[in-house]
Amino acid sequence: MDDVHRSDEPEELEELEALDAPEDISELERGVNELPPDSPLLAEEGPRSAVRSFARIDEPLALLDESFGFVYRNPRFASLLKAFGYPESSSFLGTLSRAIDGDTARSIHESLSKGEHSHSWKGTLAHRAKNSAAVITKVHILPIYADAPRDKRPEAFSVYLDDVTEESRKTLRDMFSSLLEASKLKDNDTGKHIERVNLYSSRLAGELFNDQRWPEVDQDFMDNLAFLAAMHDVGKIGTPDDILNKVGPLNEFEWKLMKEHTLNGAFILSSYPNPMAKEIALSHHEWWNGSGYPFNLEGKMIPLSARIVTVADVYDALRMKRSYKPAYPHEVAIEKMLQERGIHFDPELSEVLEKIQGDFAGIYAANAD
Ligand SMILES: [Fe+2]
Ligand SMILES: [Fe+2]
Repeated sequence: MDDVHRSDEPEELEELEALDAPEDISELERGVNELPPDSPLLAEEGPRSAVRSFARIDEPLALLDESFGFVYRNPRFASLLKAFGYPESSSFLGTLSRAIDGDTARSIHESLSKGEHSHSWKGTLAHRAKNSAAVITKVHILPIYADAPRDKRPEAFSVYLDDVTEESRKTLRDMFSSLLEASKLKDNDTGKHIERVNLYSSRLAGELFNDQRWPEVDQDFMDNLAFLAAMHDVGKIGTPDDILNKVGPLNEFEWKLMKEHTLNGAFILSSYPNPMAKEIALSHHEWWNGSGYPFNLEGKMIPLSARIVTVADVYDALRMKRSYKPAYPHEVAIEKMLQERGIHFDPELSEVLEKIQGDFAGIYAANAD
């Protein structure tokens, strides 16, 4: 290389040249991904230059061999795996098996090995961990060829995990918030009721998060519940106004239609990617002893999210004045609820409610209508 060229493309190119030798690849590997840098693939120019580029890019990138084993993971990729507690495995599918279900694994395998979509695969994976919010990534797996002619299988694959958490969450939440606004136009409960149900539910879940008895309550569970608890009555959008607004008791037929708001809610929310939305809408009127609706589920057959929202929703309903009842003071509401321990409510949640009841009173007072 002459001096003129060298002055155009300064240090970077020198570094690149220095990395040409295989020893320097091993230098690059060390401390970055803890994989043995002895893959014969790195003798090939295509994969080797991919690794050199990946090492400099601040996005999660990895290189796989033809049987989808990791050859290289750049620092961002390695730290993503670490953050989500993925197991140490040299196989891509094995490492990410918590995020990749059977159908997805098959689809990846077939696309890459049978040459569908030109030996590439694109899809979405959600990464979850106890202590951090879920990360949603678009996954792009693309073939890398060495000197082989195009009709041969690729020697390697690049994997790019594109973090789309913020945009997908925002799109989804904007859409479902509009739905919630629409349902509020019909429901005779106030907007503040909905906000408070979110707050009580979050408070309860926060208590469970710190308790070994509820391993399923992780950061993702809490984030989703804090948004979705408010959607519990979205199905009332399909309930006739004269039933919603009726003063006095409902007759049998009206009551039957009223109960359908759970089924309608589950139907409306069935397109929400997290099943919690549907669970809450469907099961927030089930009772622990099996005497609730719509399906007389009992005990832990009722999803935990719905059992939590039931506690939050009933507490708030007791505190509010309704056409058929006065507004009860906090102490009366709690006393009534504790009497229903193991009847209407999950007894373990009643125990938590008793412990944190002061915060429920605080939430009601701070967010009064
Ligand atoms: Fe309801
Ligand atoms: Fe409610």
